[in-house]
Amino acid sequence: DREYALERDCTTLSRHVLEQLHSFGAEAQDLSALMNRIALAGKLIARRLSRAGLMAGVLGFTGETNVQGESVKKMDVYSNDVFISVFKQSGLVCRLASEEMEKPYYIPENCPIGRYTLLYDPIDGSSNTDINLTLGSIFAIRRQQGDDVDGSAQDLLQDGHQQIAAGYILYGPSTMLVYSIGNGVHSFTLDPSLGEFILTEENITIPNHGAIYSVNEGNFWQWEESFREYIRYVHRTEGYTARYGGAMVGDIHRILVQGGVFLYPGTEQKPEGKLRLLYESAPLAFLIEQAGGRASTGSGEIMDVVPEKLHQRTPLIIGSKEDVALVESFIEQQA
Ligand code: AHG
Ligand code: MN
Ligand code: MN
Ligand code: MN
Repeated sequence: DREYALERDCTTLSRHVLEQLHSFGAEAQDLSALMNRIALAGKLIARRLSRAGLMAGVLGFTGETNVQGESVKKMDVYSNDVFISVFKQSGLVCRLASEEMEKPYYIPENCPIGRYTLLYDPIDGSSNTDINLTLGSIFAIRRQQGDDVDGSAQDLLQDGHQQIAAGYILYGPSTMLVYSIGNGVHSFTLDPSLGEFILTEENITIPNHGAIYSVNEGNFWQWEESFREYIRYVHRTEGYTARYGGAMVGDIHRILVQGGVFLYPGTEQKPEGKLRLLYESAPLAFLIEQAGGRASTGSGEIMDVVPEKLHQRTPLIIGSKEDVALVESFIEQQA
């Protein structure tokens, strides 16, 4: 039973971020502080989840409906508030925008100095909360551009290339944090006894092709024909495996490591699909592209989409280069 810490070089997340920051000049300290705060939020959420079934008032619904029209879970609210409270104290973030808040949350005391905005999905996979299955949090950091004096956050309506950092926290059998600041993708595993995220894999590259396809086939008859044709192709071709867990962070983590494609196409009722651009699709697109994969709307790159509103949805096809291109070829054939 040899402990890893003394056996091999044990790189903590904070040290890793600092080592990545050579090209960031004056901003390096800020980014390192921001990543440390995100890690803290992840630890707080992971801690609560690990005992959720033992405590009163943690699981279940609040009775509210969010701006997305979804029933809100208590864990959605808790996790949303965790990010707010850890960033209130950072001094660096003036504004937070999340799935669970109709308008961005301003931290006025940080605003003259706070140069960054955090965009986040506090709990990804909410339907998994009450059954002890995989969940995630998704985050992206953008520079505040302009004063936003009227509080309309117009400057957030820009493409994914404006993101300076993005990633996710995966609450699985262990808690992992996967991030990129534009210099590769790196994963960390939380050692609860140390309270530290320890480097698991540096410069992760996604395979160019993988056997996994991940999509909610319950929507089959609601998609456009091209997606049905792709799924028919997969069904009759040897070597494909379906995996769909209800939390895209988990599904995309599997695909990052093993290759394959995750899809959430538009449906008849929701032509733009379900997933939101600014705090779900764009951060994951940034990360997957950094790992050598691709993210598409079906007609263009996710990273190029300029949203018209904060909670804008977009169809998403993300994963291994070849698999994303194959789905696109079915779309082109139908066009
Ligand atoms: P969220 O829990 O943040 O609202 O996101 C859930 C998303 C995504 O994680 C998951 O892949 C997808 O919604 C599941 O949706 P369906 O139940 O429609 O398949
Ligand atoms: Mn939701
Ligand atoms: Mn989500
Ligand atoms: Mn969510």
